[in-house]
Amino acid sequence: MTRPPHPLELIDRERVLELLTQHLSRAWESFDRPRPREPELGPALVQRLSEALPAAPGDPEASLADIASILDASVSPSRPLYAAYIGSTGLEAGVLAGALGNAYDVNLAATAGAAELLENQTIRWVAEFVGYPVADGAFTSGGMTSNLTALTAAREHALPGSRFSGVSGRPAAVYCSEESHHSVARAVEVIGLGSQALRRIPIDADRRMRVDALRAALDADRRAGVVPVAVVATSGTTLTGAIDPLAEVADVCAERGVWMHVDGAYGGPAAGVPNLAPRFAGLERADSLTIDAHKWLGVQKSCSVVMLSRQGPLESAFAHDERYMLHAGVAANGVDSTLEYSRPVRSLKLWLAFRVYGAELLRDWIELTVDHARILAAGLAAHPRFELLNDPALSVVCFRHLGDGSLDGAGLDAHNLELARAIMADGRVYLAPAQVDGKTCLRVCFMNFRTTIDQVGEMLRVIEELADRAGQAVPETAS
Ligand SMILES: Cc1ncc(COP(=O)(O)O)c(C=O)c1O
Repeated sequence: MTRPPHPLELIDRERVLELLTQHLSRAWESFDRPRPREPELGPALVQRLSEALPAAPGDPEASLADIASILDASVSPSRPLYAAYIGSTGLEAGVLAGALGNAYDVNLAATAGAAELLENQTIRWVAEFVGYPVADGAFTSGGMTSNLTALTAAREHALPGSRFSGVSGRPAAVYCSEESHHSVARAVEVIGLGSQALRRIPIDADRRMRVDALRAALDADRRAGVVPVAVVATSGTTLTGAIDPLAEVADVCAERGVWMHVDGAYGGPAAGVPNLAPRFAGLERADSLTIDAHKWLGVQKSCSVVMLSRQGPLESAFAHDERYMLHAGVAANGVDSTLEYSRPVRSLKLWLAFRVYGAELLRDWIELTVDHARILAAGLAAHPRFELLNDPALSVVCFRHLGDGSLDGAGLDAHNLELARAIMADGRVYLAPAQVDGKTCLRVCFMNFRTTIDQVGEMLRVIEELADRAGQAVPETAS
């Protein structure tokens, strides 16, 4: 350094970086195998986490060590037997890109130089990976924001000028399956239609949107003067991984001139796996598509992408003139086609992951997690004391333990909730409870490249052991 360090700069950068490297490699090593139990959050750390705002500078080395301990005592989806919710997998390339990206802290709100090209290249790569004819798009903070971005564009498309005038007096509706993610309902609320404008289309025996019911709902609304804003098909529902019949939904939307959005936040990347791609036929006909890179593309939160098959709707929804955000000639700023203002280069993590691992390895990993789900489902289906609740279309498996055979209804629900809690507290396997057709169950979602086939067997053994133990205690509400 040619000048004395500013007090807001670290004095011994080399030393701190060395320590950071050690903490990182310790974290990565700890992800190599499942751990027998979660670490205790010791009293010293708890005490530190209740201290008041520090007024004076502290020791960066000790503070870094504290961060490492706090994170080690937190639930991380990077661990091989984390299978709760829809986790991410914590690709190491994402960590490197995240660190370097944070150092530069580029802002895509306005002209940002090379990072803009990288962002666009990564959008094209994601589109190529899943087979989507992208013309426009943006990285966002998650599936929620991607769905909201797409539905904001769809609203402006269906009700031109509504971004200025609002939607009052113009009845409108959005259509999705009963099992679509809540982010769709939230987006419909945020864009001013109100969630009563959401038509929850019933599902078939495979938990996919019923296209006959969709057609009927659209036609009934049209007759009543309600404007259809968009149909949201889900390619991989959160609860069971069901994929709506995309090609049939695309036909209905094309016949009626309605915007088709595909929420592929979870399942979308599986469209890039040749063996799984046929299940996603019709995805390429969507007007817009959400893909979460922080799910099945393996990078850290938060990293999602919303893509559109046409240029124009994003700018129609978001472009604006402000005295503090002048346009350079005719060129739009980032904020003219996105919901957010200040925005990091989220794509950097995915760009590096594609560069370091290549698309083929990512495809293999996705396929392997689908195999894991199939193997676990087969083990459960053959087991006398478990009931399999879904035939996994992707990598989610829902099931419940049947207890000793004396429980039913509320008793069985309570037993499974207790079992889920016992599994989470035990910490060897991490899964979450869910509800399928009113039945409380256990839900596992395979996402992690670190999970091995042997560990899938181990997972079933641990669940069995804890289920037998839970069965010995009388569930609270079982009487
Ligand atoms: C199908 C689907 N859509 C949207 C979301 C919301 O995504 P995020 O949590 O990235 O906002 C999820 C999250 O699991 C999801 O499964």
